[in-house]
Amino acid sequence: MGKALNLRTPIVIASGPGGFGEYLNVSSVDWSYVGAYTLKTVTLNPKSGNKPPRMYASKEFLINRIGLENPGFDGLRKMVEDGTIDKLASIVPLILSLGGDSFDEYVEITKLCRPFLDKFIAVEYNFSCPNVHHGGLSIMVDREEWRRLLKAIRTETDAFIIAKLGIESGFVEEMARIVSSEGWDGVTVINTIRGLMVNSEGQTVLGGLSGPALYPIALRAVYEVRKALPDIYIIASGGVYAPEQVREMLRFGANAVSVGSALFHDESVLNEMGKEFSR
Ligand SMILES: Cc1cc2nc3c(=O)[nH]c(=O)nc-3n(C[C@H](O)[C@H](O)[C@H](O)COP(=O)(O)O)c2cc1C
Repeated sequence: MGKALNLRTPIVIASGPGGFGEYLNVSSVDWSYVGAYTLKTVTLNPKSGNKPPRMYASKEFLINRIGLENPGFDGLRKMVEDGTIDKLASIVPLILSLGGDSFDEYVEITKLCRPFLDKFIAVEYNFSCPNVHHGGLSIMVDREEWRRLLKAIRTETDAFIIAKLGIESGFVEEMARIVSSEGWDGVTVINTIRGLMVNSEGQTVLGGLSGPALYPIALRAVYEVRKALPDIYIIASGGVYAPEQVREMLRFGANAVSVGSALFHDESVLNEMGKEFSR
């Protein structure tokens, strides 16, 4: 068996919707039912993101065009230095999410974070960030370059590292095989998928699709990755809104299940999900 995270419950807060711990103030959630909280992706330089509106919700899906707004490495370092990260970690174990606009940025931010990585139980790398070297596409599109990047990051840290895989550049099980062969500990499947909708003002909105519509696609991805790799640690992500879906994701091979868009709907579902797994 590969390395595991040994969470107190398999429920994980997905990177993004939970920001940098904002939901920990929500009193309707019993945080002992949550196994880990993934922070929003941090990139080397701060990003102000796209102009609002940035989110469109329907019953079946959500489209967001946040644009990876984050305070950059300096902002993260401040949260470490002023004790914010320790305070959050005393409530729920934290997973750090890192991203980059280029090969060098991923490696650089890994090096910079090294002195405080022990505050996090794992580091999840968001490989769905637009990559300047590839005309705005994910760095995963060029397999050889991506493999080199996985190797370079693995060399920089002994932390539990997880690759978050988008599914728009090939079969997810093939990408997971590459992750595993480079000595990484886990994968998160999947991220949002590019979507388009026309809003109530008739404007075209391009963004990342999440929410209920993503669920069967994410379930299939978990199934395929587990079939290909019996030992890799898998965090399922995509459209999980109810305890039955957590059970189903686990049944098809997930080790943990992340909850993102559902937080905008009703965050107290975390209690229902976590209760049955709490020890
Ligand atoms: C508003 C919003 C912001 C997100 N920001 C990030 C992010 O910063 N990093 C990341 O890896 N994924 C991000 N995601 C993707 C989620 O972590 C998750 O993988 C995806 O939304 C599918 O799960 P869900 O249907 O439960 O939301 C974001 C999703 C949403 C809805």
